[in-house]
Order: sequence, then structure tokens, then C-alpha cells
Amino acid sequence: MLKLLVSGATGTTGTAVIQLAFDQDDLQVVGQASRSTFFQAGVDADAIVDFSHPELLARTLAFAVQHKLPLVTGTTATEPEFEATLAKAAESIPICRAANFSIGVSVLCRLVEQASRTLGEDFEIEISEIHHRRKLDAPSGTALALAKSAASGRGRCLDEMAVLDRSQLKTPRNRDELGIQALRGGDVVGEHTVFFFGDAERLELTHRAADRSLFARGAVLAARRLLDHPPGMVSFDQLLFSAA
Ligand SMILES: NC(=O)c1ccc[n+]([C@@H]2O[C@H](COP(=O)([O-])OP(=O)(O)OC[C@H]3O[C@@H](n4cnc5c(N)ncnc54)[C@H](OP(=O)(O)O)[C@@H]3O)[C@@H](O)[C@H]2O)c1
Repeated sequence: MLKLLVSGATGTTGTAVIQLAFDQDDLQVVGQASRSTFFQAGVDADAIVDFSHPELLARTLAFAVQHKLPLVTGTTATEPEFEATLAKAAESIPICRAANFSIGVSVLCRLVEQASRTLGEDFEIEISEIHHRRKLDAPSGTALALAKSAASGRGRCLDEMAVLDRSQLKTPRNRDELGIQALRGGDVVGEHTVFFFGDAERLELTHRAADRSLFARGAVLAARRLLDHPPGMVSFDQLLFSAA
């Protein structure tokens, strides 16, 4: 039995984690945190899963360190300074943080790296992503992770290639750049497409998330596998593919 604390329990993704506990006999939610409530000290839990807000994540992280609980977090839009806090916490607990807990997206990152390496510089890379109107950050963490995979396939660093806004450029596209476009609206859970534009051919690799349950399943899988890890930052990719 995996006993979980859920941070962001009232949110759309946190609710999907709680729903999963109804569906999986060996999963139990033993505590919840949101804007108005927080975990009770002394609760008997194995790990924490967090899909919340940077403010709640900061409190949840402190609680995880204090109680030596492994933490799986998917919260995005954190400040750059938070990275140091997270790294410090990972000295005492295992932490898995991912921009996207979809197993399909993890495989997509690998495919994109391979396609980018094989197609080479004759193909120009663009990424588009679509999310619901409530999303705080743009481009999405997943779009950036896909962009990093594409850049890495070319042996390049994303910072040298990324173009997020062309409105001031007034120049033709540089073969070397990697454009990222974010669309926002409605209730779209998440769609990402990586385009490889060649001469007379185009490859498109797309992932579409249909509902939040896929993130919940991925995060709970990560929590199960994180239990065996020593303190440190562990990627979702490591947890998925090292056990495959
Ligand atoms: N990595 C992934 O695979 C993945 C997948 C989906 C979402 N996400 C990320 O997970 C996070 C949550 O997404 P969501 O769509 O589930 O969000 P949501 O529906 O808006 O839920 C947010 C949760 O955080 C709490 N919260 C919001 N603002 C807060 C504040 N200022 N202080 C304390 N608690 C606060 C909310 O509590 P109240 O209900 O009390 O306001 C709620 O429980 C986002 O960062 C999103 O980008 C990541």
C-alpha cells in the first residue's frame, strides 16, 4: 500500500490523483493540502505528490524535508531562485520534478532528440503548444523540455537557438533558430507539436493529453519508484526508463 499526501488536492490535477486512489486498491491518500488546509504533523505517509502553486509548493517542500518524505512535484511557474531551495532540499530527500508526468511525452522527448540528430541542420525546428486559459506560464515547461531535446540532438544548447518572439526581428528565419509558440484558451489539457521543416517534406511529432488522469498516473508511478531512491534530484525519465 502506497500512502500519499497530496499537495494541491483541490486543484484539477490533485483531484485526479485523489480519484486514482479510489481506482487503485494499493493507493491511499492520507492527507491533503490546498490554499485553506495543510498536512497534519505526525501523519503516517510514504511520499508526497504535488500539483499546486509555487507558494504551496514551498510549504510542501519544507514539510517534506522536515518529515523526510520523498517528493514528486509537477508545479510549474516557480521563480528561478527556487532552484537553489530545491537543490538544498534534495540533499536530504529524493525529489522527482518534471514539467510533464505523461509517459507519452517522455517517449516523445526521446523521439525528438533522435529525429533532430538524424535530420540534422537541413531541417528547421519549430514547436507549438496549446493549453487552457488558466495556465500561468508560457511557453509551457513541456515545450521547453522538448526544445532542449531537439537542441541536444544537434549537439547545441537551447539558449543559443530559442526564439520566443519574432515581432521585432524583421529578418528572414535563421536556419539555426528554434521557434516556440504558445496558444492559450478554453479547457485544452495540453497539446505539443514539434515540426521539422525540410525542403519538400515535413515531419510533425505530436502529443495530445485528453484528461488529467495521465499526469496523476505518471506522478503516482514516480512516487512508487522514488521510494527506493537515496536523496537527490531524480528525473521522471530516469524513473521510467531505468526500470524498463
Ligand atoms: N508536470 C505535470 O505533468 C503537470 C500536469 C498538470 C499540471 N501541472 C502543474 O501543476 C500545477 C497545478 O495545476 P492545476 O491545473 O491542477 O491547478 P489548479 O486546478 O489551479 O489547482 C491549484 C491548486 O493549488 C492551490 N493553490 C493555488 N494558489 C495557491 C496559493 N496562492 N497558495 C496556496 N495554494 C494555492 C489550489 O488550492 P485552492 O483550491 O484552495 O485555491 C489548488 O489546490 C500548475 O503549476 C500546473 O502547471 C503540471
